[in-house]
Amino acid sequence: MSKSTPLAVVILAAGKGTRMRSDTPKVMHKVLGLPMVNWVLNTVSCLNPDRTIVVIGEGMDALAASVAPHEYVIQNTQQGTGDALKAALPALKGFSGNVLVLLGDMPLLSPDSLEKLVIIRNMDGVTGISVLGAQVEDPFGFGRLLLNEDGTLKAIREEKDASEEEKQTNIINLGAFCLDSRRVERWLLNLNNKNAQKEYYITGLPEMAAKDNVKTRIALIDDPREAYGCNTRMQLTKLEITAQEMMRESFIEDGVMMQDPSSVYLHYDTQIGPDTVIEPNIYFGSGVVVGSNVHIKAFCHFEDAVIGDGTTIGPFARLRPGARIGQDVRIGNFVEIKKSTIGDRSKINHLGYVGDAIIGTDVNFSCGAITVNYDGFEKHQTIIGNGVMVGSNVNLVAPVALDDGAFVAAGSTVTKDVPADSLSVERSPVKVHRGWAALYRKRKGNKK
Ligand code: UD1
Ligand code: CA
Repeated sequence: MSKSTPLAVVILAAGKGTRMRSDTPKVMHKVLGLPMVNWVLNTVSCLNPDRTIVVIGEGMDALAASVAPHEYVIQNTQQGTGDALKAALPALKGFSGNVLVLLGDMPLLSPDSLEKLVIIRNMDGVTGISVLGAQVEDPFGFGRLLLNEDGTLKAIREEKDASEEEKQTNIINLGAFCLDSRRVERWLLNLNNKNAQKEYYITGLPEMAAKDNVKTRIALIDDPREAYGCNTRMQLTKLEITAQEMMRESFIEDGVMMQDPSSVYLHYDTQIGPDTVIEPNIYFGSGVVVGSNVHIKAFCHFEDAVIGDGTTIGPFARLRPGARIGQDVRIGNFVEIKKSTIGDRSKINHLGYVGDAIIGTDVNFSCGAITVNYDGFEKHQTIIGNGVMVGSNVNLVAPVALDDGAFVAAGSTVTKDVPADSLSVERSPVKVHRGWAALYRKRKGNKK
């Protein structure tokens, strides 16, 4: 965003979240694997703020660590959202510009919505505050935005303090405010706690501003799903479902084909390239990067894995942390890969385990072959060159290396390195007893 006026962001995140019935501070609960407060931080980073301050509660060390390297201040006793902003005043001393206040439990607000809020506050010289709102079907539980006839904001009324008539208003407060830094301190210090919850509400600020003849304008969001917040476990579940849906939609718009989107579980940091086809029932854990033109067949589980362009995976494949799969690779059913690099065009088509291995290009790793990477105490590495053929049901006992072009005969347990273009075979001689089966059947049959 291009901005001439300096911007400071304050994120209110000190609430204990009593309604969550959890020892974890509310904003540390995760959506798509990322704490809510970090969603808000990621969004504001798109606005390039000059300052970012997070208000947290005393003893919330995990929260302080999660917001690092951003600055945090402590609100000692939680006396409401107005009181929380007050806790940030010392940190804002000397700052002049826009103060954007956000709630840590509203993770889905978009950078565009916040940008709109800042623009509206700076639109004319008489707007001291802008407030982000949404028009919704069911406003229950939210503060209501009560408007003047000219469309400016008269007051914000909390559900618990609203009259029956005020409750009919379906424009809700999303808790995002853009304030003129020059006046915010005076208005805040004038707030009182004469309300149902005996708290200092940040929502009282527009009325303070009106007393100074300063206007408050509202900005409305375009996608009502951004209004999802979190006070209870049920709302956290709904937030998760909504965030999943929004992320899937953005992938689909960017060219990813999902055959059954609702059965694809994404992580906040999942990356998927265009023209990739995703069949039903796929789990993406953290740190998964999928290239373009990849085909992911049904029932796969991925964590911290990279999948190159043109590769086919699954059905029923598991990529564990450190799996680095090249381009045009084929990973088939019941294959597990951990901390291993698989070169371009290699094939591990059925029933295999590859752990702590480096596999070259054009390798065929046949059905049932595995790396034996663990000796009960330590992990060891398997190195396979280019163009190697590993037969079916082979045990590669690490540490072991197979050089370029080597062959390993089916059923071998390989405990020695194999030079380039050589054959490794470990097999006991096959004995054939002619007629044995017929005799055996006869003997068993006679007993019946
Ligand atoms: C608040 C708004 C409400 C709005 C809704 C949107 C007020 C009084 N009400 O209600 O108008 O519709 O959000 O979701 O502002 N917090 C602190 N310190 C405190 C209290 C809260 O830091 O003393 C933080 C919480 O961690 C939370 C955020 O402020 O992240 C909002 O607090 P919460 O109690 O959830 O407010 P709501 O009741 O949802
Ligand atoms: Ca809330």
